Amino acid sequence: MTAPWWRDAVIYQVYPRSFADANGDGIGDLAGIRSRLSYLADLGVDAIWVSPWYLSPQEDGGYDVTDFRRIDPLFGDLADAEALIGEAHDLGLRVIADIVPNHVSDEHPWFRAAFRTPPGSPEWSLFHLAPGRGADGEEPPNDWRSVFGGPAWDPIPDGSGRPTGAWFLHLFDSSQPDLNWEHPAVRAEFEDLLRFWFDRGLDGFRIDVASSLVKAPGYPDEGRAPAGTPGTPVTGGDLPQWDQPEVHDVWRAWRRIADGYEPPRVFVGEVWAESPSALAAYLRPDELHTAFNFDFMMAPWSAGRLREVIDESLSTAGLVGAPTTWVLESHDKPRVRTRFALEAAGMAIDDRSGRGEDALGERRGRAATLFMLGLPGSAYLYQGQELGLREVVELEPSVRHDPAFVRTRGTDGLRDGCRVPMPWTADGASHGFSPTGRSWLPMPPDWGHVSVERQADDPASTLSLTRSALRLRRTEIAPGDGAMAWVDVDDPAVLVVRRPGPEPAGDVLVAMNLGTREAAIPGLTLLLGSDAGVRTSGGRIVLPPDTAAWLRG
Ligand code: NOJ
Ligand code: CA
Repeated sequence: MTAPWWRDAVIYQVYPRSFADANGDGIGDLAGIRSRLSYLADLGVDAIWVSPWYLSPQEDGGYDVTDFRRIDPLFGDLADAEALIGEAHDLGLRVIADIVPNHVSDEHPWFRAAFRTPPGSPEWSLFHLAPGRGADGEEPPNDWRSVFGGPAWDPIPDGSGRPTGAWFLHLFDSSQPDLNWEHPAVRAEFEDLLRFWFDRGLDGFRIDVASSLVKAPGYPDEGRAPAGTPGTPVTGGDLPQWDQPEVHDVWRAWRRIADGYEPPRVFVGEVWAESPSALAAYLRPDELHTAFNFDFMMAPWSAGRLREVIDESLSTAGLVGAPTTWVLESHDKPRVRTRFALEAAGMAIDDRSGRGEDALGERRGRAATLFMLGLPGSAYLYQGQELGLREVVELEPSVRHDPAFVRTRGTDGLRDGCRVPMPWTADGASHGFSPTGRSWLPMPPDWGHVSVERQADDPASTLSLTRSALRLRRTEIAPGDGAMAWVDVDDPAVLVVRRPGPEPAGDVLVAMNLGTREAAIPGLTLLLGSDAGVRTSGGRIVLPPDTAAWLRG
């Protein structure tokens, strides 16, 4: 029996605002994505995950949804979404959308209706509301902080703008009120939404902040100052707004719905949990299929730490028979190339004085991506990772959109740097992103050099490397998320993993050199190297520092 597709799929994340703009307003749209589906099929990914496309005031890049059954007119309409799903399927690509169950936009009809009524009304019971502290309720109900900075509560005024003493909860921006998942209407609405989209052929959902839906009764204080950054919610087994046991009931109900379809639909959760066993609980056979691997995404350039994270990831998922996932980039995190470049230079992401050791970061980013694609399980690529795009650290404050940037007065919320639109062509005002040359974020001067057009026919480019890796992943490594074993080598800075190949070709070794000296691994055939310096020499494959390779012994 062949393993279900999602156990070893490579899923490409499309951030719709920044992928391709068809109508010329400088904002990417669904027609733009449709026009580039053949690029994605050629690249060799199995599926795309599209960040939120729903009607939204776009305060948080669409993670603030007004109507989950409508496409935002910025991006197109429902017919475009249906056409996108159909055309992707024709090309052999599956489509996963994003669903945001923790909160809605403050423009959502439920929240607007609540705001027209006094606190305590049935309309308010769909949200979290609590009396403020202090004599007149002028202080927030507890010490919870928004992941985007500042308090997690906002006061509710009455019809004439006077404080009522009641507050509503928002774990993210104040324009993103949290839904009350104790309320049956909330549960029923989302179950209906799943069916709405699954009936239209959608293959699955990526679930936004899947561990935060249920809050501890009585909203107890955290009692400690959390250190959250945007996109990396403050988490912790003992924090009252994360990972509450009742949240698992929601995922069990969703799984029953997904399993009722043919083929079954799938979920990948954005799960922030304190311990491996807490994470594994979300991946039990009757809950979510997979979850993002943030430990891998945040691991430094260290062979020891990386090996530890890989082992932990496999054993965590293995506890419940789930495949693990691998991810290095997303719309919330600095580009991998720049992350490693800054790390090597001892710089932080908010240090806008430069890009750190960019050339080294590029080599490490290429190596890490090639290595990741050789690991067992499912892997994610974020748009532009296949081009080796860098983080645009130099964006001026005035052009930034990240709500956390505003809430923290620029000390945090630097996510726009990885959201600069894709460069498709070497020339042109917006490098082929938009027919009018517009772009919702400015593109840096070097964007043409890294464009798809420049890289497509260059065998040494990051695009060619990624495409080759995806092709070899299908032909040289046995399908499924099966076996992997560490191969011992003398140098602790070198990681080597053995993966079974399809019979009779034999095993593939996936290697990466995180050290400062050249490494030589016994092997006769070099299948792919992350860098021109990777070479065969006397029955060995030589890996210079900061490179990776796939080889056969
Ligand atoms: C995680 C999403 O990836 C991020 O972009 C968003 O801001 C928060 N969740 C809130 O929805
Ligand atoms: Ca557009």
